[in-house]
Amino acid sequence: MTHTFDAVIVGAGGAGLMAALQATRGQSPAGTVPKVAVLSKLYPTRSHTGTAQGGIGAALGNSEEDRWEWHMFDTVKGGDYLGDQDAIEIMCREAVDTVYELEHMGLPFSRTPDGKIAQRPFGGHTREFGKAAVRRACYAADRTGHMILQTLYQQCIKQGVTFFDEFHVVDLLLDGGAVRGVAAVEIATGDLHTFAAKAVLFATGGCGRMFKITSNALTLTGDGMGVVYRRGIPLQDMEFFQFHPTGIYKMGILITEGARGEGGILRNNSGERFMERYAPNLKDLAPRDMVSRAMHTEIRQGRGIGGKDYLHLDLTHLDPQVIHDKLPDITDFVETYLGIDPVKAPIPVQPTAHYAMGGIPTNADGEVVIDERRTPLPGLYAAGECACVSVHGGNRLGTNSLVDIIVFGRRSGKALGEYVKRSAPAGLPADPEGQTRERLKRLREGRGPERVSSIREALQAEMTDKASVFRTAGELQKMLEVLTGLKARYEKAALQDRGSRFNMELLEAFELGCLLDLAQVTVTCALNRQESRGAHCREDFPKRDDANWFKHTLAWKRGDRVEIGYKPVVVTRFQPQERKY
Ligand code: FUM
Repeated sequence: MTHTFDAVIVGAGGAGLMAALQATRGQSPAGTVPKVAVLSKLYPTRSHTGTAQGGIGAALGNSEEDRWEWHMFDTVKGGDYLGDQDAIEIMCREAVDTVYELEHMGLPFSRTPDGKIAQRPFGGHTREFGKAAVRRACYAADRTGHMILQTLYQQCIKQGVTFFDEFHVVDLLLDGGAVRGVAAVEIATGDLHTFAAKAVLFATGGCGRMFKITSNALTLTGDGMGVVYRRGIPLQDMEFFQFHPTGIYKMGILITEGARGEGGILRNNSGERFMERYAPNLKDLAPRDMVSRAMHTEIRQGRGIGGKDYLHLDLTHLDPQVIHDKLPDITDFVETYLGIDPVKAPIPVQPTAHYAMGGIPTNADGEVVIDERRTPLPGLYAAGECACVSVHGGNRLGTNSLVDIIVFGRRSGKALGEYVKRSAPAGLPADPEGQTRERLKRLREGRGPERVSSIREALQAEMTDKASVFRTAGELQKMLEVLTGLKARYEKAALQDRGSRFNMELLEAFELGCLLDLAQVTVTCALNRQESRGAHCREDFPKRDDANWFKHTLAWKRGDRVEIGYKPVVVTRFQPQERKY
């Protein structure tokens, strides 16, 4: 079945929805609105943006003085100077307008007593270039992402955006290097659909499901990154993966940094506020890479709670009203999953795989750029976590993912709208679904002894063990060997479900293929980068090495191999300095 649109947006989280809104606002020379379809493997309001809790950073200055330049500095420094400063400047400047735009769309932000959007402190956000924590995170209790998602979805419905819910995109169609559309499986029927389009925008989120302990939803399997990577497009800075300090012990479910923004404290076995030793100025509100390393160090040195591999997040000294009013969802999670009332008892937490700083390289208009010279591939766009603009450098600051999806979702949607207005439709390549049909047939007809679920479990456990907060060449090398074995097992996997309708096992097999490829890229790039920067901490190369490694990594798929290249970091205002907090 073939559908024809001007543009297809893959993914219906914050970035995809914002892009859809902007793209469908543009008028073509003939006065018609571009025909844009949003395809999502989920029902849109189940997208992972809905789980973002604590806030969206913008220098509104509602509770104290703030400036976008301070936000920019914090983002550059928080990312250990690897972020491109031209893009970071755009993000921090435009964050202010986009937050007001969300407010005007009806987003129910929490309020200050005088009715302004409420703001709270978050890790690494400071005033006056690092002097002290600043209240910059605009929040809707601890449901900020949920509110963004609902608001944008309502706006899309109002604007008549066309949705294909539960359509799983499995291929990008290119013809001689030009974008022609996507191929997707309709989950309800198993039918294969071709979407012909002049432009495609990927907004498919992250790939945290390559790890065992993760805050990421089951669906965060890196499909968009995997699809474009297989089509010869490089991925950027994939060695940088963020571990959020406060996942619920053993489950990884996120406990917002907003809890520390409201005054929560991390404590070790003896009740010590250990972050005072690691970051004397910002303490518990230091950037996530530092807090996660500090937590692992405490645990390794035997100061985990009861000698185990977790620590305590203590909110018991806070006013119970603050917990109930400003942190209702995490209170609910902790009660539901642990049977703990956070007003009365500390919460067992451990670092949890949270966010890929790397992804599909783009410029600030969301155009995918395919080489060291930043050459755009006309008609191909990406935004949100699957993209790498790059604004997060080696370590993202809390709240900046929501800023990223909104600012760059908006910019890429506008750019895509303009692009389709000026481009003529082009035909589909011959047999557009051929590769997909072949791939799905191989998965469906596998007769070997292996199960997709056991290969996935092995991948997640091994990645958590060998490629997480602390890394060494030895462990990364072992992980590459493990991956070779897992890929061989994957070739011998057999499905139990041989049907077409709602064959989730088939789609999970496809997702696992993406995760295996992305894990290989992540580990190869981590082994290659012989320094420690941001979230990439090599115990065998413990220092940042600007002389040799002040550059972005690009990774291309070459058969079974990963080929590595580099491109320079854009520096405008802030020269790299030592990071102290
Ligand atoms: O802690 C949090 O609420 C997460 C926010 C983020 O990842 O930006």
